[in-house]
Amino acid sequence: MKTIGVIGAGQMGVGIAQVSAAAGYRVLLADISQELADKGKANIARTLGRLVEKEKMSAADRDALLGRIETAGDVAPMAEADLVVEAATEREDIKRKIFENVSNVLGSEALLASNTSSIPITRLAQASADPARFIGVHFFNPVPLMALVEVIRGLATSDATVTAVDGFVKSIGKTVVHVNDAPGFAVNRILLPMLNEAVFALGEGVASVRDIDNGCRLGLNHPMGPLQLADFVGLDTCLEILKVFLSTTGDPKYRPAPLLVKYVEAGWYGRKSGRGFYDYSGPEPVPTR
Ligand SMILES: NC(=O)c1ccc[n+]([C@@H]2O[C@H](COP(=O)([O-])OP(=O)(O)OC[C@H]3O[C@@H](n4cnc5c(N)ncnc54)[C@H](O)[C@@H]3O)[C@@H](O)[C@H]2O)c1
Repeated sequence: MKTIGVIGAGQMGVGIAQVSAAAGYRVLLADISQELADKGKANIARTLGRLVEKEKMSAADRDALLGRIETAGDVAPMAEADLVVEAATEREDIKRKIFENVSNVLGSEALLASNTSSIPITRLAQASADPARFIGVHFFNPVPLMALVEVIRGLATSDATVTAVDGFVKSIGKTVVHVNDAPGFAVNRILLPMLNEAVFALGEGVASVRDIDNGCRLGLNHPMGPLQLADFVGLDTCLEILKVFLSTTGDPKYRPAPLLVKYVEAGWYGRKSGRGFYDYSGPEPVPTR
């Protein structure tokens, strides 16, 4: 593999483009307009600029890395990619359209991957020309810092596709775990019930926000408590994921905690809205319960 296509220049797409270019790949970064793709590349330049300031990267290395990233406002250049990673908005209609369009230009040996967090890979593969060459690659946020990539095979994904994508993930310095095509894959499947349970415990008055989070930080050796992590993920996002788990499995263990529903109804989405289980308006987050 020499050339990696990335579709969607949002927070995940730029991270995937950055780590791919850092590993020496030529990267084609596309969004719905040339302007948005260029904005994504400018975000990478800003991130790398901070590394140069802190003397963690040389200016020459930064320039070389940025020189390997080409931007585009459509998918036509993906004709030159060996692997295309789709990291566009989490909407099935948008992703299906992208796969149809990319399939029209993709080389006969090239692979197509989705970074979706929740849409089944087997279903998305149906929108591509060849489901054997379609796969899930689930990166974690922020991509340059997080070591893990879940590789998800759809029902029709070929062994050769899995092997090639494993090789790519390892070549960019990440660690692969293989997961079957199930709701939430493995990590979110395990994480979300834990975050939800923390909200149940808070709602039932088991302990305060501070005590639940300190308990998990110190008792489980987690870097961050579950309520603060839920605030970081976004309480609206947590609720949506739990609803997907509940509707796809029918298992009541995924029912959202009533307090989580209430916070979302109140517009308290967590860090991005300034308030969730913590208040983020001051210099330090302050627990609200
Ligand atoms: N944010 C996370 O923590 C996280 C973690 C893992 C996976 N994901 C997944 O990664 C994907 C992207 O998430 P994000 O957080 O980067 O979103 P984002 O909103 O930051 O970026 C999405 C980008 O896709 C672009 N886009 C929309 N339609 C497009 C199209 N037709 N063609 C090309 N580009 C298009 C948008 O303009 C935007 O720049 C989603 O599938 C999400 O579920 C997100």
